[in-house]
Amino acid sequence: MASGTSRDVVGRGLRVLGRAIREQPRIFAVAVTGSVLFGLMVIASAYVVGAVVGKVVVPAVARGSVADGALALAAAALFGISVLRVVGIFGRRLGAGYMQYRLQATYRRRVTRRYLDLPLAWHHRNATGTLLSNANSDVEAAWYPIAPLPFAVGTLVMLVGAVVSLFLTDWALALVGLAVFPALFALNVVYSRRMAPRQARAQRLRAEVSGIAHESFDGALVVKTMGREAQETARFAARAGDLRDALISVGRLRGVFDPMLETLPSLGTLAVLVVGAIRLRQGAITVTELVSVAFLFTVLAFPVRAIGWVLAELPRSVAGWDRVRRVLDATGEMPYGEVALDPATPAPATLAFHDVHFGYEPAEAHLPGAQVLGEVTFTVPAGKTVALVGPTGAGKSTIASLAVRLVDPDSGTVTLDGVDVRELTAASLASTVALVAQVPFVFDDTVRANITLDRPGIGDEEVWAALRLAEADGFVAALPEGLDTMVGERGTSLSGGQRQRLTLARALAGRPRLLVLDDATSAVDPRVEAAILAGLRAPADGGAPASILVVAYRRATIALADEVIYVEQGRVVARGTHTDLLATVPGYADLVTAYEQAEQEREQTRTYDEVTPLTSGLEVEVDR
Ligand SMILES: Nc1ncnc2c1ncn2[C@@H]1O[C@H](COP(=O)(O)OP(=O)(O)OP(=O)(O)O)[C@@H](O)[C@H]1O
Ligand SMILES: [Mg+2]
Repeated sequence: MASGTSRDVVGRGLRVLGRAIREQPRIFAVAVTGSVLFGLMVIASAYVVGAVVGKVVVPAVARGSVADGALALAAAALFGISVLRVVGIFGRRLGAGYMQYRLQATYRRRVTRRYLDLPLAWHHRNATGTLLSNANSDVEAAWYPIAPLPFAVGTLVMLVGAVVSLFLTDWALALVGLAVFPALFALNVVYSRRMAPRQARAQRLRAEVSGIAHESFDGALVVKTMGREAQETARFAARAGDLRDALISVGRLRGVFDPMLETLPSLGTLAVLVVGAIRLRQGAITVTELVSVAFLFTVLAFPVRAIGWVLAELPRSVAGWDRVRRVLDATGEMPYGEVALDPATPAPATLAFHDVHFGYEPAEAHLPGAQVLGEVTFTVPAGKTVALVGPTGAGKSTIASLAVRLVDPDSGTVTLDGVDVRELTAASLASTVALVAQVPFVFDDTVRANITLDRPGIGDEEVWAALRLAEADGFVAALPEGLDTMVGERGTSLSGGQRQRLTLARALAGRPRLLVLDDATSAVDPRVEAAILAGLRAPADGGAPASILVVAYRRATIALADEVIYVEQGRVVARGTHTDLLATVPGYADLVTAYEQAEQEREQTRTYDEVTPLTSGLEVEVDR
């Protein structure tokens, strides 16, 4: 990803830093002021030490006694300088820390916010492990150089100050400075260029390692039951090994360059002493000046490293930033419209598809995207139930996603109460439709929180009402802590059918005007499934029933629908009542009969919901 020459890495890295400074200008100013104060005090200390040696120590040695007044003055000066240095360090550290962690927090928020705005199609193309590392290590990496940045900027100011004061002292010594400082700078640049590809590689491998780990943990059940532990471990070990090698190569380079960076100023001190001795003999400089300059070179060595720290972190920062920006700049988000669909009295909504065509984006841009739906037109009239039936892969889930606007059609329209769903506000869409997905998702939280999802106006009474409608009140009441029972990560302590009914209750609690059920009760006993649907069509409280689009297979369920839409390969092949289709559409009859046979066989060998939950101890109420 971090392609291009190392020169553009430095250039691009500096631009990333520029962005950081623009985002936090005041804090940065505080940190740099502290750092400059520190730098100036470093120079001042060198001159005071020189003065102490030249004006106090040397005369004292010559005379055999110390001038108390001069010594006290020197001590006071050094004390004052130390205090200012402490103030400078404090301001710099505090400012740099604030800036770095604030930027990290800001960008973590922006990245995760963006994840939620990006369409499903984008998420299909991006692995969860990558998303985690984008929000974590990439954001951190992008802002690593911020920590030493104020120090480095202050050091640059200090170097300029040092060169100026050198010229004011003696041109020959200034020349030594002019040779050493740029050499230090050049060494730092070479160092960071060598570092660039190594850091970028390490950063990429970090993301890959976290991706593999995430996938293995996620698929722990498959890995265990298929006896794939050894292979998964090997796959992880190989990548972890690559990461180790990449980091060692980073360390090796550090090992070579760090001592060089350390040695160069010492060589400078040596050169100052040689040149200084000659100049002293010539009478061009005083002992005070020689000591000051020699001391200056010794104290400069450390701060100059700060420039190296920034440069060394730049490649990692650029690699991290590129990955963060890929998320922030990702397009394809689906902006919401302005129309609100909130009738005074809640009534069921009408859903209509008009000549909808749709294809998923290809995994890679150069591949052609296959069309999944074509010429799909149908209506779910207000208060009616329409069953969507078709073989696997026919496009039923895709139609469900379009109906709740998880994706938008390539052409044609999806309307709710006659309004194109693209024109609806987010709030209006959320309060009008609810999807119960084919794969139920349960949060690692209490039963109550899983149903309310913090939506306003859903109290315990509404929760129980929703649970009753979803035929889930029985098993929830039997849980050890009722609504307060924690259900484990992804609902591991629940059976498949219980999870499905919990997600159904979640959808119902929001009192949607259109309910889209994508095979949402497949793990529930067939009789219970039919009971749920019957209950939804005729609510016990006498309220208006929601309109329902239900993907189903079971005869008993389908028979409850007002109309059946039969899809094959993304096209609506036939529509009518269940009885009509059974009689006239051979494909439909075959499918329903085949499913029924499979179901009967299944029922002879096992009952629904008997799959033992991973965590036992929660007694499962047997479905009626
Ligand atoms: N995220 C995706 N990216 C690319 N193609 C997809 C994606 N999801 C589904 N498809 C393809 O779209 C077609 C329709 O899939 P869809 O999930 O809508 O079928 P379905 O009728 O719900 O099937 P099932 O009964 O198995 O749930 C299939 O050919 C499938 O391979
Ligand atoms: Mg499906």
